[in-house]
Amino acid sequence: MTLEEKLGQLQQLPWAYDTGPGGPGTKAVEDAARAGRLGSVLSIYGARTCNALQKLAVEESRLGIPLLFGLDVIHGFWTTFPIPLAQAASFDPQVAVRDAEVSAREARSNGVHWTFAPMMDVTHEPRWGRIAEGNGEDPYLTAAFAAAKVRGYQGDRLSAADRIAACAKHFVAYGGAEGGRDYNTVDVSESRLRNLYLPPFKAATDAGVATVMASFNLIGGVPAHADPHTLTDILRRAWGFDGMVVSDWNGVQELIPHGVAEDGADAARLALTAGVDMEMTSTNLVTHGKRLLREGRIGRRRLDEAVARVLRLKFALGLFAHPYVDEGAAIGEPSAQARAAARAAASRSMVLLKNDKGVLPLRGSVGSIAVVGPFGDSTDLLGTWVMPPAARKFPAGTVLDAVRQAAPGSTVRHARGVDPQGDDTSGIPAAVAAARACDVTVVVVGEPPALSGEAAARSDLGLPGAQERLVAAIADTGRPFAVVLVNGRPLTVGSWLERAPAVLVAWHPGIEAGHAVADVLFGTVAPGGKLPVSFPRSVGQIPIHYNHENTGRPYDPDDKYTSKYLDLPDGPQFPFGHGLSYTTFRTDAPRLSTGRIAASGLRAGDTVEVTATVTNTGSRTGDEVVQLYVHDRAASIAQPVRRLRGFQRVTLAPGASRTVRFRLAAEDLGFWTNDPRGEFRLEPGAIDLYVGGSSTAEGRATLTVT
Ligand code: IFM
Repeated sequence: MTLEEKLGQLQQLPWAYDTGPGGPGTKAVEDAARAGRLGSVLSIYGARTCNALQKLAVEESRLGIPLLFGLDVIHGFWTTFPIPLAQAASFDPQVAVRDAEVSAREARSNGVHWTFAPMMDVTHEPRWGRIAEGNGEDPYLTAAFAAAKVRGYQGDRLSAADRIAACAKHFVAYGGAEGGRDYNTVDVSESRLRNLYLPPFKAATDAGVATVMASFNLIGGVPAHADPHTLTDILRRAWGFDGMVVSDWNGVQELIPHGVAEDGADAARLALTAGVDMEMTSTNLVTHGKRLLREGRIGRRRLDEAVARVLRLKFALGLFAHPYVDEGAAIGEPSAQARAAARAAASRSMVLLKNDKGVLPLRGSVGSIAVVGPFGDSTDLLGTWVMPPAARKFPAGTVLDAVRQAAPGSTVRHARGVDPQGDDTSGIPAAVAAARACDVTVVVVGEPPALSGEAAARSDLGLPGAQERLVAAIADTGRPFAVVLVNGRPLTVGSWLERAPAVLVAWHPGIEAGHAVADVLFGTVAPGGKLPVSFPRSVGQIPIHYNHENTGRPYDPDDKYTSKYLDLPDGPQFPFGHGLSYTTFRTDAPRLSTGRIAASGLRAGDTVEVTATVTNTGSRTGDEVVQLYVHDRAASIAQPVRRLRGFQRVTLAPGASRTVRFRLAAEDLGFWTNDPRGEFRLEPGAIDLYVGGSSTAEGRATLTVT
């Protein structure tokens, strides 16, 4: 390969539409493909489109190296599953596996080889719009979902016709963006980096993820794209990752405005040297690489290593043997099975926050139901990242239609009341009239998907526009009602929560939104999801998350000099792990396996079995997620008050019990210190174990580490 051809392999350009500022247009992409100056194309799909472009690379460039086609297949291709934050609420990683398998099959048949997913940025920032794309505030839960998605996309063989390469993104600490403002600065200690942000990436690399994407943020003053500590010391050397690292959109170019690179050549040097292999959208490596090499500012070995990684991925995907996709086999629409999987995923992801007086489930025989609110008849429930954009031709089914189907004998009235955004309240009287005329009302309110996702930070987490006034007006009728929230992040619900008898968090549920909501409303599916992120009482409380450290003056309402807000009760509105069902559960205190460990304590390399019995104490079958948390009482680095270390979702008939077993390894109890070389410690002392149905579980046992 000539130097130009090598550098060309490190270039990725966008095709027909942009997911960031600027793009060169399709003519420039075609020219680069023909010239053998292009390794990959993003934002492209369609068997015929991909084949036509591939032909230029394979048949007209000197070496005929095939192109790698990437797309942001985040929670579905044609079949849009619930957003990833919702999927995490299922506490069932199989949900993520199913999404990834369906997505991979549909995408690959349409020419896509590589998805920029899963996103695994742990965050304590609900203002950050990208919280919708991840799995919430906990590294353990996120790691489980990250690994599941990688397995689902990639399977055992990347060259299979129904598999695509995954991408662990964004490396790393993007979720720590100050103030929740997208792309913002992150300043993080080594211990927090390793204990909070890195574990999902480690799980993804252990699961064999093919690629990693660098993140837009600074990490302690160094942009992640130029950070050899994370990209090379940790990812490559400590973890042995040998796949390809791609920049984010213009991430190399942005080293200039970040203030660490003088010009494009400097940016290319910094990124390549730190560990970025492929440059997305900006063209600094391909433009300046030759000169940088000549001047000795980048090394030939490093360059060859990057090129080899790109080529190895193409070989693994089978592109040299089969560069073209079978146009006759392209999947053109969601199959019935794919839709069924999306429906099950959505209903499994819903979280019942509150259900007073048994408003839910609705009886199928109820005489009349009002469906009100701006999202009652809305198809805008797919969530952020609808990719390809043409997937919008398969919109979400509406709640209104699904309620009509689920209750064919009922009179169903509908009024929007208000718009998703804006101050117009003129529709509220019609919604109130519908509620007054019906036995029960379903109020479907929330955030439009455009208010979450990339570049969609919010400073106010209340219901947008006049929606809270609609909820208040329905409450004023005194008639029973349930609120269904459609949301891409935690919302502040405190101003109306007391007045709403029942609240169901549906998130942005995807293509089968309507049916999935109706399944839960009517009890065909018992709600069993749990919050993967705390719901704050107010924006002023943020960051608020269950896995915080204690202060030296933990909250005490009777002591002025303790850590609190004067104008708020302690704690979030709803904690991590919270979620009700239509039945109730009791979880007994955890027990430890007896024997040597119980007698003399746990040592490095040991595992201990923790068991707890959970019983359905109500009168309906339902799901409980039994959660195991640990707390190290005294360590050389203060430990979070709780850390999730196990979860199992179980279905129990009324009166039935199940003993749930967790295997806890000594390593699950240790932590990373602030040593930049990476020091993991398991220190002697007492560890409290809590098991129950949320992060506030009280059932406790104590274990000694010796
Ligand atoms: O994959 C995305 C990334 O998450 C944000 N910037 C653009 C990329 C490609 O579309």
